[in-house]
Amino acid sequence: MSDFTSNFWSIFISVITIGGILACLALLWISGKTKAMTLSDNTTGHVWDGDLREMNNPLPRWWVGLFIITVVFAFAYLYLYPGLGTYEGSLKWSQTGQFDREVSRGNEQAAPIYAAFAGMSTEQLAKDAKAMAIGDRLFMNNCAQCHGSDARGGKGFPNLADGDWMWGGSPDKIHETIANGRTGVMPPIAAAVGTPEDVRNVAHYVLSLSGSPNDSVRSNLGKPKFAVCAACHGADGKGNQALGAPNLTDNIWVDGAGVESHIVNMITNGKTNVMPAWSSKFTPEQMNVLTAYVWGLGGGVPGVQPAAAVATPATPAASPAADAASVAVENGVVKFFFSTGKAELAAGSDKALADVVAGVQAGKKVVISGYVDTTGNAAQNEELAKQRAFAVRDQLKTLGVAEDKIEFKKPENIEAGAGKEARRVEVALG
Ligand code: HEC
Ligand code: HEC
Repeated sequence: MSDFTSNFWSIFISVITIGGILACLALLWISGKTKAMTLSDNTTGHVWDGDLREMNNPLPRWWVGLFIITVVFAFAYLYLYPGLGTYEGSLKWSQTGQFDREVSRGNEQAAPIYAAFAGMSTEQLAKDAKAMAIGDRLFMNNCAQCHGSDARGGKGFPNLADGDWMWGGSPDKIHETIANGRTGVMPPIAAAVGTPEDVRNVAHYVLSLSGSPNDSVRSNLGKPKFAVCAACHGADGKGNQALGAPNLTDNIWVDGAGVESHIVNMITNGKTNVMPAWSSKFTPEQMNVLTAYVWGLGGGVPGVQPAAAVATPATPAASPAADAASVAVENGVVKFFFSTGKAELAAGSDKALADVVAGVQAGKKVVISGYVDTTGNAAQNEELAKQRAFAVRDQLKTLGVAEDKIEFKKPENIEAGAGKEARRVEVALG
């Protein structure tokens, strides 16, 4: 690759380089031929300090030999490597090529390490010392400049190690925050509150919410004005994680301290605070490791529990055997049935999927659809259907099916009745 817009500089450099080497050779050859000003006693006639004479001996052979070797080396080098203008060299070596090779070698070495993390939940990753060592390095290199090397944040940058979350502390929410970034917007809102006195009064009311020092007369006067703030911070001031509006009752301050001037400043000037997005910088595996690292700092809250753990089924399963996971193949469609509230695949799934895998090798795609029963909470059931579909996808991947050959198709009605027959994931070739 060349930055030159014409051949001129390329030729210019080549001529000077090759010309330079040839000129050195010529000089060697000429100086070996001509013996300038030699007297009969083989001196040049120069005499110093009365007795020091300059001899005129030919160049030593070993020296001439070395010189010729350097010339041969120069030509060999210029033939093999890029040194002459835009000529690439017969080895086609380049800095970017070498860099790319080193990066891909690094990625290859890292792949098995990350592969060991695949399929691990955030909770499991957070307990894995190796994953956390990697998470720590990723955090130090990318996050510490804003959140601090102890992740305890600073003014304007939230503490990630406490249980106080602006945007939520479940694995899902933390992942979402890191992947897509967040922008917290507190608008300048003094005009809606009223006079500067009203603003001070509502500030004292806010201070009273967290038991911070406040003037109770002002606080009582300010209380009705808090209606303006309730849309975001909640009527009780406990915040709203969907908007990133912080809890004002816990005496934890992201943007300042629990004093009147800070609150008045927020109301008067507002604040827009940006957490950058990282999904393009990290691989999905690195994102999971980072999520687990942040979650595991101590402030993380549990994620969504599978339906069975929270909702008691209206009709208890008839018997453990009837509720056990199983797998069947009907008309080329592989059907996985699941235990209540579980996303584990039944034994024998490899064998059941053999035809599907063969179909993919023959160029087809796999379509995965999940169905749920009507028992329990609909949102949790849908989440469970997703997890079951992912479990099937992961199984297909371990059987060598490339991810881009796998499609998810949400059925129009995912509720397929009651009982185990309904709790299923169907896999078909599409
Ligand atoms: C340029 C500064 C900056 C960098 C770098 C940065 N963050 Fe943030 N982060 C912020 C700000 C500012 C917020 C608060 C956003 C808001 O006010 O709504 C934030 C918020 C967060 C939150 C949400 C906290 C809560 O209470 O809900 C998490 C989690 C987080 N960052 C993790 C990370 C991780 C992990 C990295 C490294 C990959 C990172 N951040 C890098 C500035 C940064
Ligand atoms: C449109 C939504 C919205 C409204 C209305 C709103 N806020 Fe906020 N407020 C936010 C957000 C978002 C933040 C977080 C800013 C950030 O990311 O740093 C915030 C931050 C604050 C903070 C700083 C908290 C800290 O931890 O340092 C205070 C204090 C505050 N708001 C008080 C108020 C008061 C008082 C009102 C009403 C007069 C109000 N807010 C109205 C969204 C809102």
